[in-house]
Amino acid sequence: MRNRIYLCLAHMSGKEQQFIQEAFDTNWVVPLGPNVNGFEADLEAFFAAEGLDAKPIVALSAGTAALHLGLIMLGVKAGDEVICQSFTFSASANPIVYQGATPVFVDSEPGTWNMDPQLLEQAIQDRMAKTGKKPKVIIPVYLYGMPAYIDEIMAVAQKYDIPVLEDAAEALGSEYKGRKCGTFGAFGALSFNGNKMITTSGGGALICPDAQAKQRVTFFATQAREPYPYYHHEQIGYNYRLSNICAGIGRGQMTVVSEHVEHHRRVKELYKQLLADVLGITVHEAPEAYMESNYWLNTIVVEPAQYGMTADELRIKLDAKNIESRLLWKPMHLQPVFAQAPSYVNGVSENLFNKGLCLPSGPCVSEEDVRYICEAIKGK
Ligand SMILES: Cc1ncc(COP(=O)(O)O)c(C=O)c1O
Repeated sequence: MRNRIYLCLAHMSGKEQQFIQEAFDTNWVVPLGPNVNGFEADLEAFFAAEGLDAKPIVALSAGTAALHLGLIMLGVKAGDEVICQSFTFSASANPIVYQGATPVFVDSEPGTWNMDPQLLEQAIQDRMAKTGKKPKVIIPVYLYGMPAYIDEIMAVAQKYDIPVLEDAAEALGSEYKGRKCGTFGAFGALSFNGNKMITTSGGGALICPDAQAKQRVTFFATQAREPYPYYHHEQIGYNYRLSNICAGIGRGQMTVVSEHVEHHRRVKELYKQLLADVLGITVHEAPEAYMESNYWLNTIVVEPAQYGMTADELRIKLDAKNIESRLLWKPMHLQPVFAQAPSYVNGVSENLFNKGLCLPSGPCVSEEDVRYICEAIKGK
C-alpha cells in the first residue's frame, strides 16, 4: 500500500533548527526575543507593497488570537454585532463571542465562495433597521486562500463606515490586483497552524495599520502590563505572544514561503488539467484574472447526477486508496452552536458544503501523487 497522502502537511526548509538552536544558545526561550522580531520583520517585508507604507505586523500564538485582538482593537464589546462570513472555520466567529458580541452571518457569492458584497449591504441595512445601530466590524474570509471581491466589500464597509478585519488565515501569499490579501482592511489576521501555507507549529499574526496600533496589540498580547517598575494593570490583557522558539521555525519557513505558494499553484494547474474531462467534477479557480489565490487547499465540486456519487462517497473512496480529502467547511449558520445568531443566506455555502471536497495540496504532495489522486477520482 502507498504511504498516505495528506491534505497539507508541514514542510521544513531545513533552516528552522538553526534559528531554534540560536534561541537555545542565547537562552531566549521566552515569548519574545530576536526570532520574534526577525519573524515579524520577514512578514512585514513579505507583505510590503510598492507605493504603500509597509504595515507593521505582530507575531501571536494563534490566528484565533489575532482575530480576537483585532476585535478588541476595533472596540467590539458586549451587546455589539459583528458581521462574519458564514462559509468559514469556526475560529473566524468564536472571538466575536469571546467579546460578548453577537455574530451576524453573511453567505457567499458563487465566484470566489467568499462574502457576497450585495448580501453584506442588505445585512447591514436590515441590522440597522432591526437594532437601531450599525454592526461594529465586518470579517470577510479568504477561504482556501481564494481572494474575495474585496474592493466591493470595502466599498460597502466605507459607505456605512464600518471597519473590516480580514481573516487571511488561509491566504498567505494570495493577491488581489497585485496586493496581498490581509492588507486591505483595518487589520488582517494570519495563521501559522500546522496545516497552513507556512507553520510555526502553532501561531498567528495580526497585520496592523500603523506602528501605534502594533504597540497597542503587543500591549494586549502581553497581559496589558503598564510601563511601571512593578506589575500594574489598568485593562484586561492576554497571553497571546508567539514564543521565540516557534518564531524560529517561522523564520526558517519564511525562506521557502514563495516556493510553497508556487507549489500549491502548480498542484492546482495539474488537478485542472488531469480532471478536465471528468464529468461532474469542477476544480475551483479564481473567477477573475486579477485574483491570485495561493490555492492553499485545492477544492473540487462534485455533481452527483453527473459524476455518479456524492462528494462524501468520493471522500470514502479516496480514503480506501490512502488519500486524505475533506468536505468543505460547514457554514456557521448551520452550526448548532450559532443557531441563535442572525444570518443572511442565499444557499451558496450550503450547496458547496453538500458538494465540495478539499484535495491534497501541500508541499509534501508530489506531481506523481496528484496523478495518482486523479486516477483514483477517475476510476469509479
Ligand atoms: C479561516 C480560518 N480562520 C481562523 C483560523 C484560526 O487560526 P489558528 O488555528 O492559528 O488559531 C483558521 C485556521 O485554523 C482558519 O482556517
